[in-house]
Amino acid sequence: MKSFTLSAVALAALLSAVAPASAAVASRNSNGKSCGGSRPTNGTTTAAPTPTATEPCVVARDAFISQTSASPGVTPTMAASLAYDCLKSVPAHKEPAIQLLDALKPFLEWQSDQAVLKDPPSDYPYPPVDIFGELENIRSNLEADKYSGELEWQEELFKTITGKPHDGHLAYYPDLLTVPFEWVRPWTLVSVSEDGTSLPVVKVLEDVVSPGEESSYVTEINGVDAATFIEERVTDSSNTQDPDAGYNTMFFSQANKAGLQANGYFEGGGRERFFYPGNVTVLTFANGTTVSKPNIAKFHYGPYDWHNVKDADTMHKEFCRGAYPIESSRPSIRDVKSTRRTAAPKNIHSYPQPPVSLARRQDEPNKIDGYPEPVLISDDQIVSGYFIDEPGFEDVAVLVMLSFSPYDFVAFQTAVQDFFAEAVEAGKTKLIIDVQANGGGTILQGYDTFRQIFPDIVQAGPSRWRSSPGFNALSETLSPICSNYTPKADDYQNLDIPCTTVNNWRNDLNETNGRFTSYADKFGPLTSGGDSYTNYMEWDPANPVLTRQAFGTDITGYGRRTNFTRPFGGPENIVLLYDGYCASTCSIFSQFMRHGAGVKSIAMGGRPQEGPIQGVGGVKGSQVYPFRQMSALAELALEYTEDPAIVKELQRLDATLVSSRSPFQVPTVNVRDAVLPNELESGIPTQFVTELADCRLYWTELMVQNTGEIWKAAAQAAFKGGKCAAGGIEQPLKRPQVTASKSHGYRRQPQPVRSGQVLSPDSLIMQHLRVQVSD
Ligand SMILES: *[C@@H]1O[C@H](CO)[C@@H](O)[C@H](O)[C@H]1NC(C)=O
Ligand SMILES: *[C@@H]1O[C@H](CO)[C@@H](O)[C@H](O)[C@H]1NC(C)=O
Ligand SMILES: *[C@@H]1O[C@H](CO)[C@@H](O)[C@H](O)[C@H]1NC(C)=O
Ligand SMILES: *[C@@H]1O[C@H](CO)[C@@H](O)[C@H](O)[C@H]1NC(C)=O
Ligand SMILES: *[C@@H]1O[C@H](CO)[C@@H](O)[C@H](O)[C@H]1NC(C)=O
Repeated sequence: MKSFTLSAVALAALLSAVAPASAAVASRNSNGKSCGGSRPTNGTTTAAPTPTATEPCVVARDAFISQTSASPGVTPTMAASLAYDCLKSVPAHKEPAIQLLDALKPFLEWQSDQAVLKDPPSDYPYPPVDIFGELENIRSNLEADKYSGELEWQEELFKTITGKPHDGHLAYYPDLLTVPFEWVRPWTLVSVSEDGTSLPVVKVLEDVVSPGEESSYVTEINGVDAATFIEERVTDSSNTQDPDAGYNTMFFSQANKAGLQANGYFEGGGRERFFYPGNVTVLTFANGTTVSKPNIAKFHYGPYDWHNVKDADTMHKEFCRGAYPIESSRPSIRDVKSTRRTAAPKNIHSYPQPPVSLARRQDEPNKIDGYPEPVLISDDQIVSGYFIDEPGFEDVAVLVMLSFSPYDFVAFQTAVQDFFAEAVEAGKTKLIIDVQANGGGTILQGYDTFRQIFPDIVQAGPSRWRSSPGFNALSETLSPICSNYTPKADDYQNLDIPCTTVNNWRNDLNETNGRFTSYADKFGPLTSGGDSYTNYMEWDPANPVLTRQAFGTDITGYGRRTNFTRPFGGPENIVLLYDGYCASTCSIFSQFMRHGAGVKSIAMGGRPQEGPIQGVGGVKGSQVYPFRQMSALAELALEYTEDPAIVKELQRLDATLVSSRSPFQVPTVNVRDAVLPNELESGIPTQFVTELADCRLYWTELMVQNTGEIWKAAAQAAFKGGKCAAGGIEQPLKRPQVTASKSHGYRRQPQPVRSGQVLSPDSLIMQHLRVQVSD
């Protein structure tokens, strides 16, 4: 029976959007209510200038209005330099800025690896970053009126939180910087080895797709050595902890296009899109030719109205609405509902519609551009399976997972299961698992996929949380109310939400998959490297609230999905294929595959330097919370406590201001460290452990055009003794003489059946289960 309390419904509504999605302004409605009519505070440090025709934001407004009326539906653009002039003309609004910095603290205290970021291991590739120290710096610069305008402190804040930590789960998108525009360079680049063995060079995509007689490679960008230039961009903006992975994200690949909807972040997208690229980008080619093209500002869609922009001050009022006072500190239930219904203010009609997403284009054949014809593909194209129809590769099957974030958990589970069955029946004995561009998704989808491949291996994924004041206040409040709670598969109970959070000590398993015995047994705190943490814990995939209730199915290996057998036998028949982007749930899945089962891996591309590279280059933290998740949990906990100290702590977790000033994308924080089973003593988070792939391969021009070419090279290296650019995968001395999978004892399994109703994707529990990188 469905028996959500009213407050649970309200909370679910409050969490209306999935955490990170690119170009999210289009669908964000969080501050649709806070606009209009409110007057600015006296925080403005400069008098409002008189409007003139050369007012830079008026130039931007006029560009927007004339383009949207001349070509509706086409994204308006303007010269990057002119858009930058507009942003720079906005004066600093000091008081609201300081309020924002102070309001960020209770949320950033949850960042689980902040002590390690401040003092990373010696082989960590980026400089240390002291998040709170840097915030304090920005704050005192604001106090001392050191900033030339609103943009400058916002750029510093963005660098501090979203840039320097190189954590795909840690992101804040200040409003003026990210809401009106994003930057685009007029060049799409690739990094390819010309013969497959020499170091990769940078080329323009068109020269690879249709090479001319004279086409050449790029030696310099804006007068700097091309690779060095790109590496510097990676150091500033990459959301990966690994520089080779960051290097790869800057280039076009079919996987980046399909998975990240980007032609490489050098051109546009990712976090790089908010680092001003200058007026022009100049490429110098090896043949001596130099070409300069102006950079572009792309206008964003959103519930904003450029007609309201008359000068720099009204620019601020329109695009930094969170800086102006709003009536109530937390949205009431009614507010949430009405905000959801009215997606945007009335003037939205003059905005171009966002492009239709690839996955929803019904008229297109269900196939991924640049990939071969699939044997099987899920409707959302997240999972697809292939056979390589070429002599010498008859035994190889390829499973592509573009993320672990499907529209539907069961559809993903079914697609994987069906593909394995088809592959085994077709006599395939080798499996390539292609997780290029996979930024994660639902945590237990990663668990399930691993257990479909190795049903008999119980995964080891120890993790811990930072023992922050807010975390502890929640635990102290929520744990006691769960003493008589037992999760049930088919009944929603009022206590499901509070008791299924990490803050109930009875929830989750200990590091040896037993039950915690007390509050202190789970929450410690334990100290390590100068910070305090919970004890190590494991997810409990047998908890029916997290599985049957949430998704309507069990995790393979549990409940009704026991008795599965291995479709491909041992680890020697399987290889993981990476482009470095793998993060979040992909990193969790990879840990099980590599450390738990011993599967080898191949990493593509990387910087033009000899030597092995990492495959899992994205964030390895194992859980992300949007700020508003903490806020919603705090609101829930406040119903159960009157302890003044705890109430005070919970009230700090009010996300109204911090969310309203990051409307482009919800702000997020990495709340859970993954720690490798053999690093529990040292306590070093996996995020800071270098894990080299067994084999490195370079991309070639053919591979850029057709992903199937990558698979052939991968199969060659993994299963047929082929050479790698670095490292190598040894063939087992005695190859198992299996041709048909029957020898593995593989049994085709009954299809997953959806049992009963599932939880709404925006419920607190579903949010708790999601771990995906933000670009
Ligand atoms: C506004 O001005 C008043 C009086 O000068 C001052 O007390 C107050 O702190 C100011 N508020 C802000 C937000 O700057
Ligand atoms: C960039 O463009 C702006 C605005 O057009 C101009 O003021 C500035 O001088 C240009 N900078 C360079 C380096 O060309
Ligand atoms: C040099 O190479 C570039 C990039 O391939 C090409 O566009 C250009 O035409 C070439 N220039 C000459 C003089 O061959
Ligand atoms: C985990 O819990 C079980 C059962 O309570 C207990 O026997 C085991 O010692 C615990 N493991 C650790 C590492 O504390
Ligand atoms: C599945 O495994 C359980 C034990 O885990 C066993 O009791 C049951 O008989 C098995 N079912 C089948 C269909 O093999």
